Amino acid sequence: MQASALSDQDFGEFQRLLYRLAGISLSPAKKALVCGRLAKRLKHHSLDSYRDYLRLLTSGREPEELQTALDLLTTNETYFFREPKHFEFLQQILAERRPGAPFRVWSAACSSGEEPFSIAMLLADRLGEAPWEILASDISTRVLERARSGLYAMERAQHIPQRYLKEYCLRGVGSQAGRFLIDRRLRARVNFRQINLNETLPQLGEFDVVFLRNVMIYFDTDTKARVVQRIAATLKRGAHLLIGHSESLNGVTDALAVVRPSVYRKQAG
Ligand SMILES: C[S@@+](CC[C@H](N)C(=O)[O-])C[C@H]1O[C@@H](n2cnc3c(N)ncnc32)[C@H](O)[C@@H]1O
Repeated sequence: MQASALSDQDFGEFQRLLYRLAGISLSPAKKALVCGRLAKRLKHHSLDSYRDYLRLLTSGREPEELQTALDLLTTNETYFFREPKHFEFLQQILAERRPGAPFRVWSAACSSGEEPFSIAMLLADRLGEAPWEILASDISTRVLERARSGLYAMERAQHIPQRYLKEYCLRGVGSQAGRFLIDRRLRARVNFRQINLNETLPQLGEFDVVFLRNVMIYFDTDTKARVVQRIAATLKRGAHLLIGHSESLNGVTDALAVVRPSVYRKQAG
């Protein structure tokens, strides 16, 4: 069955739906992407128009379908040790830190897990047996499932330092050849859970560092301001927020001070 074209009016409905659910602003240039990514769902439900699919999504008859659509409409690109300057900065924080309470990091849009596992490798290396933990969250349950498995194709290992590869990654054999598994000691310290940054946050405790990278590019200024306000409330005094190098908090918050581009700090007093 050939799905009908997506009208501007129906595309507008998808835009409003995604904005309401996830705070994501889809530009008109994303119409073809929406069409392409959702076409298989129309087929799956034997629907021949995007309007019928919208009705299905908003009828409440199939709540899981909303999550499936969200999973398909989010962009999950990520890789190990992306934006290496942040990992150098994290090393610096760890070197200056006084031992005490557990060191807590939140990877707040963790996608398929490469970001929190990169952080975990660094913390395991620098803090060893000292207490530390990572919360890793995303809105997409599909990427979280992949992240929880801790299993990656060998090609994804290219930015992992050799020493960490040896120490924290297990090369697959037999049916797992061509893949590697993140060591259980690291997986045990990373808690994956679904959190929508566009909603009131659950009780999460306070963090020493929050990674909020490459997700605000999808948000408008109002959404950014709300998200950053919620996240700033979870930072300990003097703790850091790291955002993507192509992102900025200019005019978004005055609760955080710029340390350097893409690095912010909650005032100590
Ligand atoms: C491009 S990835 C960035 C991954 C990683 N932080 C990095 O920099 O490599 C953006 C992630 O943000 C997630 N996301 C989008 N909107 C979200 C929301 N409202 N709440 C939580 N996560 C969201 C997407 O599902 C996606 O996995």
